[in-house]
Amino acid sequence: MSQIPPPPSAMLAELTHRCPLSCPYCSNPLELTAREAELSAPQWAEVFTQAGALGVLQVHLSGGEPLARRDLPDLVSAAVAAGLYTNLITSGIGLTEARLKDLAGRGLDHIQLSIQGPNAQIADRVGGYKGGYDKKMEVAGWIAAEGIPLTVNAVMHRHNLDRLEEVFALALRLGARRLEVATVQFHGWAARNKAALMPTRAQVEAANRSVAAARERLKGRLVIDYVPADYYARFPKPCMGGWGRVGLVVTPDGTVMPCHAAHTIPHLRFENAKDTPLAQIWTGSPAFNAYRGTDWMREPCRSCDRREVDFGGCRCQAMAFAGAAEEADPVCEKSPHHGVMAAMAEASVAPELEGGSPGGGAIDDVAFTYRDNA
Ligand code: SF4
Ligand code: FES
Repeated sequence: MSQIPPPPSAMLAELTHRCPLSCPYCSNPLELTAREAELSAPQWAEVFTQAGALGVLQVHLSGGEPLARRDLPDLVSAAVAAGLYTNLITSGIGLTEARLKDLAGRGLDHIQLSIQGPNAQIADRVGGYKGGYDKKMEVAGWIAAEGIPLTVNAVMHRHNLDRLEEVFALALRLGARRLEVATVQFHGWAARNKAALMPTRAQVEAANRSVAAARERLKGRLVIDYVPADYYARFPKPCMGGWGRVGLVVTPDGTVMPCHAAHTIPHLRFENAKDTPLAQIWTGSPAFNAYRGTDWMREPCRSCDRREVDFGGCRCQAMAFAGAAEEADPVCEKSPHHGVMAAMAEASVAPELEGGSPGGGAIDDVAFTYRDNA
């Protein structure tokens, strides 16, 4: 069977690393791309055109904060002209009603609005931005008035995982059709806040139950996408649907990768969309082909009946915790390195929180290491 997959269906376009928020769980790399190194609007337009021709169906316009780009309306127009379904992933900070109307007029299809917590106290503290929560509530009202379909995004961690019910209620109140709740992953900057953000095992298990119950209860009203914590899991998730299988990521400077954290695998070299056509990267890039399919696998993945279910999990996590990207993701109970994840998680949680004390203490007392994204 050929290892070259069908065209990617989705592209994550990281338009900029600039962002007015300073979330401690930011998954962007420690070294951010400077404004001067970002692709220009015509360069992004060329990437969108090539993506459409390659077969990409939807583009997620993300960042950083995409609204930090004054030329965002031109980027939306270019993506629409390329035939792509456009999804703006935003904190809402920097949006005005007029700006939203402009984007809608240019054909923006969908918005994902991130929330940093279910109330102003938590959200503003976590995002490091006073007034951010109230602004988001206002923005959600404009989105509803404009009739743009809305998904609410929330990253869950020790200080809000016990508040999932409030997050469900907020998403409904804001008129969202979909809610994406993702348990924090410790890529990029987030690794610096592991001790502050790591949920307890009890919290994770309660959250799994709570999501299952809410999915039943809210059927037909709210679709809940859930990325569970894998630190305490038995099997990994197929990262990005499998390496180079269904999607690609273009970073602010045009580097093209199979996933957000792929640059942490040191021996891989990633091409840039400024120099190499996207179609050539998708089919011919040695980095994309390195972990496609199953031929690269070692045991225990090689002979495992889940190898085409999870594709061995996350290569970046295997690199970080098992020392080689060809190893099974250590989340897997068959991995000889299984246990490092849970041990790391348990070691990160302060002893007084074992058992899942709600919220892990007062949010104002938590020592977050914020990042400066401006
Ligand atoms: Fe997945 Fe590999 Fe574990 Fe099998 S051994 S479940 S393919 S990570
Ligand atoms: Fe890179 Fe999972 S984050 S493969």
